[in-house]
Amino acid sequence: MLDKNFLWGGATAANQCEGGYNEGGRGLANVDVTPHGKDRYPVLAGKMKMLELDDEHYYPALKSIDMYHHFREDIKLFGEMGFKTYRLSIGWTRIFPKGDELEPNEEGLKFYEELFKECHKYGIEPLVTITHFDCPIHLIKEYGGWRNRKLIEFYQRLVTVLFNRYKGLVKYWLTFNEINMILHAPFIGGGIVFEEGDNEAQIKFTAAHNQLVASAYATKIAHEIDPNNKVGCMLAAGNYYPYTCHPEDVFKAMNLDRENYFFIDVQSRGEYPKYALKQLEREKIDVGMTEEDKKVLKENTVDFISFSYYSSRTASADPEVNKTTAGNIFASIKNPYLKASEWGWQIDPLGLRITMNMLYDRYQKPLFIVENGLGAKDVLTENGEVIDDYRIDYLRAHIKSFMDAVELDGIELWGYTPWGCIDLVSAGTGEMSKRYGFIYVDRDDAGNGSLKRSKKKSFTWYKNVISSNGENL
Ligand code: BG6
Repeated sequence: MLDKNFLWGGATAANQCEGGYNEGGRGLANVDVTPHGKDRYPVLAGKMKMLELDDEHYYPALKSIDMYHHFREDIKLFGEMGFKTYRLSIGWTRIFPKGDELEPNEEGLKFYEELFKECHKYGIEPLVTITHFDCPIHLIKEYGGWRNRKLIEFYQRLVTVLFNRYKGLVKYWLTFNEINMILHAPFIGGGIVFEEGDNEAQIKFTAAHNQLVASAYATKIAHEIDPNNKVGCMLAAGNYYPYTCHPEDVFKAMNLDRENYFFIDVQSRGEYPKYALKQLEREKIDVGMTEEDKKVLKENTVDFISFSYYSSRTASADPEVNKTTAGNIFASIKNPYLKASEWGWQIDPLGLRITMNMLYDRYQKPLFIVENGLGAKDVLTENGEVIDDYRIDYLRAHIKSFMDAVELDGIELWGYTPWGCIDLVSAGTGEMSKRYGFIYVDRDDAGNGSLKRSKKKSFTWYKNVISSNGENL
């Protein structure tokens, strides 16, 4: 049995659902200038410079599903499903349009205040990601994004404003969405665009270090402002399996896992693990660690470990085994035992339980699954219905798996917020047609559609899951 206070809910991110990019005094952010189409990946990866909007590209985040104007309607639907929590993110440029101002933008602060109050009307506890792939364009142009330590200071200013203003309205906070993404998609992970001749590894690890330090300061400030605040890290998780039992494959899988766990090792244990220090030394990377950094990291570890889980990953040391599968920006070897989604993401419910056990064994802190789900093409029937049994099957199997982790393995799990509880723009592809939601939104990949919201079959199913606390699957 899950605890009676288990936090069932759903998750979104500002840039993928809010829209209203130039309203309420909001400034331009990296996520706004990330186009749909073939240029998206090079932009995400920091390989193609795009710091302005142009007429040749379509930018899906500018309007998204326009939650900026629909949030009351949407939160009402979440309330109807019985959500206990709603994970959303703050658009940094709503609060500080350029990022380096001294005073925040009142209109932006007011918007989220209204939104949080709306959540509480339905007994929904907000779970707030402070930055979900979000960095003001001005900070990129002027300072080079997170490669610059100055961003630690701007981030401290942002979080101080948020924790003070929303004291009593929000108590669950995540500092950086999928912090390990910075190594794979540095433009959205850290506002980084590479210039000719850049030492990319040096820049990525420096930016990662700056975010780790900023995250520790945020944890410190959150606890000082309100001891009730609970601050979590957020990992794009999914354990690596060795492709075979060849020791080289096992060793490779261990090392690839460490690339991800490195971040959480720092955020949860408070210091760089030895293997990371050795790697940085070998690769002659200097992240600019100061004595003060060491102290703040050590003294301000996170309260809980949150993560996204879509699939496990597979590793092989054999260069011949090179059939990769798609999967959340992290390319991985295709696992022959698993089926895949229409986008090639492999489906592995037991992998969730395995990942949870790895995380819990390693950190012994409460876990929170803040993303999970199936991106699929939905068909709206003439009666306005979406019969998404495939989504229900996916979620049912994953819920069973995490319930086993709780009941049979004794893992402390605070909650579950499946991704894109309302259809939104895909981060990886910029498509609307890659849908995750319980709520269908009438909008297509080119931005056409009425934005009308309709309940899918999974809406009623999830409502029953929540009201039975996971017993009625
Ligand atoms: C996670 C991100 O990586 O995966 C989300 O935190 C993202 O922002 C989600 O949307 C699903 O990925 P995609 O590419 O299908 O949108």
